[in-house]
Amino acid sequence: MPNIVIVGAQWGDEGKGKIVDYLTDQTEIVVRAQGGNNAGHTVISEGTKYVLHLIPSGILWPNKTCVIGNGVVIDPVSLLEEIDTLAKQGVTVEADRLLISNRAHLVLPSHRAMDALNESSRGDEKIGTTKRGIGPAYSDKIDRSGLRLHELFEDNFSDRLNQNLTNCNELLEAAGVETIDVAASVTAYAEAAERLRPFVCDTIGFLHQALADSRSLLFEGAQGTYLDVDFGTYPFVTSSNTTSGGVCTGSGVPPQRIDKVVGVIKAYTTRVGEGPFPTEDDGFGDVLHGMGREFGATTGRERRCGWLDLVLLRYATYVNGIDELAMTNLDGLDGLDEIPICTHYELDGKKLDLPPASAADLQRVKPVYKTLPGWKTSIEEARHLADLPEKAREYLDYVTRTTGVPITSVGVGPDRTQTLVD
Ligand code: GDP
Ligand code: IMO
Ligand code: MG
Repeated sequence: MPNIVIVGAQWGDEGKGKIVDYLTDQTEIVVRAQGGNNAGHTVISEGTKYVLHLIPSGILWPNKTCVIGNGVVIDPVSLLEEIDTLAKQGVTVEADRLLISNRAHLVLPSHRAMDALNESSRGDEKIGTTKRGIGPAYSDKIDRSGLRLHELFEDNFSDRLNQNLTNCNELLEAAGVETIDVAASVTAYAEAAERLRPFVCDTIGFLHQALADSRSLLFEGAQGTYLDVDFGTYPFVTSSNTTSGGVCTGSGVPPQRIDKVVGVIKAYTTRVGEGPFPTEDDGFGDVLHGMGREFGATTGRERRCGWLDLVLLRYATYVNGIDELAMTNLDGLDGLDEIPICTHYELDGKKLDLPPASAADLQRVKPVYKTLPGWKTSIEEARHLADLPEKAREYLDYVTRTTGVPITSVGVGPDRTQTLVD
């Protein structure tokens, strides 16, 4: 099995968790390299729904090892809650199955408080973050003032946390918002440190030994290309590199060891939070929400919905080096007479094949569509690509022809079994 990177090629929630789960059977180690518990990855297996935030989806398979790499930002209390939730669902997360990088940065209560405060002070310009403290945690990392996992176990950690939270409370007080209970937070982090101690190690050494032993790696991307801090719709993005390049810096695995990049896309497009979305179509969103679909896995927010956008997809194939596409949620288009696909944009009388750098310009583009016929029948029972109606296969062929990238798996429902590969 090659070393494979799974990346979201849209605005997140493409179905990465389901694809990772599908591929875990054939791999040995599943690795997260960026993001934090802003992610929400859904896997449905034998009627049970699992939502993973920080822990790689591979944990659902017994005997697979999972790694949270140095590029991830970790809220230790939330991570333990996730471990406890999994335990209640019958999934035991032992320390020899989950390795957490000692170089990963901590998300502190001050980061969560500042995330909320920053959002409210932006007013109408807000980003619509998940309020998990992700942006402030990465800001401190880049500012060189962050605290890393190895520091949790150092003698002065409680003092440093106390100081950090006390400083933050001054800002919160000045802003007239609720302050942090410093004593309770320091106790919670000290308790979390003791429980997490066995999991924390030098994951880079572990991953290089695994490579030397020819054990295969599967990298589970979080968020998606248009939430990438460099390539996304800045400033309406998250604070990490969500594209394939982030895998190397976030895990310590060098680029030569990546064999394949799989881009995950929905058959349409969704986005949670603010920011430009050229193919957004509220009417289509109402149809999907009416079917009980497209509610955020982390915050429960209604996702914004629209059509597949080949301009964004083309650029995503460039910046990630996508070798193959996994298309999920094709069944979401089942009832439609016609399906629009955006082929290019027009802006100020010019044709655009790639997205503009400015979010304001992307807000102004006019998407130009090609309309393909719908198949108007349920495909959820299909188990092979050949079972799909001809018009559904035409839809897939059109995407492959225009992007030059093969679609190697197709999702026809949320269950583990509803992924077609042959
Ligand atoms: P992730 O963040 O990329 O892992 O995606 P999420 O889990 O946030 O959102 C994807 C949603 O689509 C979840 O509710 C999945 O259960 C669901 N899903 C994934 N693939 C399919 C599919 O092929 N069909 C349907 N109906 N649902 C799917
Ligand atoms: P997965 O891994 C969808 C969005 C937020 C907001 C922006 C910034 O499940 O695909 P942040 O809290 O990261 O500072 O928020 O990014 N966002 C996601 N949207 N899926 C995700 O993760 C997301 N993680 C963050 O809604 O618009
Ligand atoms: Mg998600």
